[in-house]
Amino acid sequence: MWKDGPRFPNPALEDTLIHRHSIIGDPIVEDAQANRCRRKALVPGCGRGVDVLLIASFGYNAYVEEARTSDLYLSNQAVGRGSITFVQAMRSSLDRQFFCALSPSLRPEWALRQTQLLASNGHLICLEYPRHRDASEMGPPWAVSSEDYREHLTHAGEKNSGPQQQIRMVPDRTHENGRDANGIVQDRVAIWHRCDEGHRKRY
Ligand SMILES: C[S@@+](CC[C@H](N)C(=O)[O-])C[C@H]1O[C@@H](n2cnc3c(N)ncnc32)[C@H](O)[C@@H]1O
Repeated sequence: MWKDGPRFPNPALEDTLIHRHSIIGDPIVEDAQANRCRRKALVPGCGRGVDVLLIASFGYNAYVEEARTSDLYLSNQAVGRGSITFVQAMRSSLDRQFFCALSPSLRPEWALRQTQLLASNGHLICLEYPRHRDASEMGPPWAVSSEDYREHLTHAGEKNSGPQQQIRMVPDRTHENGRDANGIVQDRVAIWHRCDEGHRKRY
């Protein structure tokens, strides 16, 4: 568990969910049988779980995957409009400080799994952090670049066409550790979309 982790959700993610709704879509959709259902959102490596609460409050059914659960704020529960469920395997949708927690040698595996578990027409939101860390320093957190995400996600597996980046932006608000020594925001938020025809539709 990341004991020094933030105790409140990252405002960059909150702003993304609010202001990029036109890209991400609604948390409630119709399935193939025209039944209304909540979309699922996975938060792998969620730490304390504060972003999970945020996701559920927006109406998604949030799925949590965390190696160490002792200090989680969460239990299986209904929060706001959506629910929270613990899972063992990655599904996908929000990456905040998980990519940087994994050894760089695991990045191809991360990208492949994200791609496999991302529903057709699903979105992956990546908060790119820490972009301003010296790449020669040992992690975790390991330094990341926007190019690292692009390189791995767009080449995720031979048979899987990777998701496409729809937008990448400088957040207006983020946690303080997302700023460099001059106070300039170094974090980026990228939204990726999987739209391949052959992939089974899931929510
Ligand atoms: C840097 S923390 C970030 C936590 C959270 N995403 C946040 O931004 O506050 C990384 C988290 O990933 C978890 N983690 C690392 N490797 C993992 C793995 N293979 N499976 C599940 N969780 C993992 C760690 O326990 C830690 O809580």
